[in-house]
Amino acid sequence: MLFNVRGITGDDVNDLLDIDIKCFDYAWTPAEWSQICKTHAIAVGTYFGTPVGFGVCLRIGTDVELRKVAVKAPYRRRNLGRKLYNACVRFAIENHCTRMFAVVPESLIYPGSECIGSWLRKLGFRAQKPFIKDCFRMYGQSEDGVKFSQLLDRNSA
Ligand SMILES: CC(C)(COP(=O)(O)OP(=O)(O)OC[C@H]1O[C@@H](n2cnc3c(N)ncnc32)[C@H](O)[C@@H]1OP(=O)(O)O)[C@@H](O)C(=O)NCCC(=O)NCCS
Repeated sequence: MLFNVRGITGDDVNDLLDIDIKCFDYAWTPAEWSQICKTHAIAVGTYFGTPVGFGVCLRIGTDVELRKVAVKAPYRRRNLGRKLYNACVRFAIENHCTRMFAVVPESLIYPGSECIGSWLRKLGFRAQKPFIKDCFRMYGQSEDGVKFSQLLDRNSA
């Protein structure tokens, strides 16, 4: 299969760091990644076996936070992001969670080339009010976050 989604292995961490840096202005540091690997559920997206994307989520009670989904630019718009999101939904349902949420920087929710709000809405998320004050730090500046959430049921995966 061209694109595949699988669980994380011990060899993936450097690839995930690299994808993170290429996809986000707020990439996690190596120290943060080593902590994330111990505490979060992680799906790895591959193209002919090479990691090109990931989905990272965290169970919080009966919620699951979609912390990050990333697909390297050359591989986008070929459904890998949706597959990674679906892997996170399966994780949520297997763990009897009923809601998934994501918090994204305010600047990425308005129409534009990287409008993550549109992508989240396409997957069934809806934005919630109010914005969360100062929850991102980008280019040395604080930015507010917007929480998107959706209810899950057995048919979501
Ligand atoms: C967001 C991201 C993961 C999407 O990955 P992708 O592999 O291109 O997504 P898919 O191909 O699975 O797209 C699923 C659907 O969303 C649409 N879509 C994808 N990116 C979109 C965007 N930026 N804006 C609007 N719609 C988008 C696709 O057209 C597709 O719709 P369709 O089913 O009607 O054809 C990728 O663009 C990315 O890594 N962005 C940078 C990191 C980021 O901001 N992540 C999200 C915040 S956690």
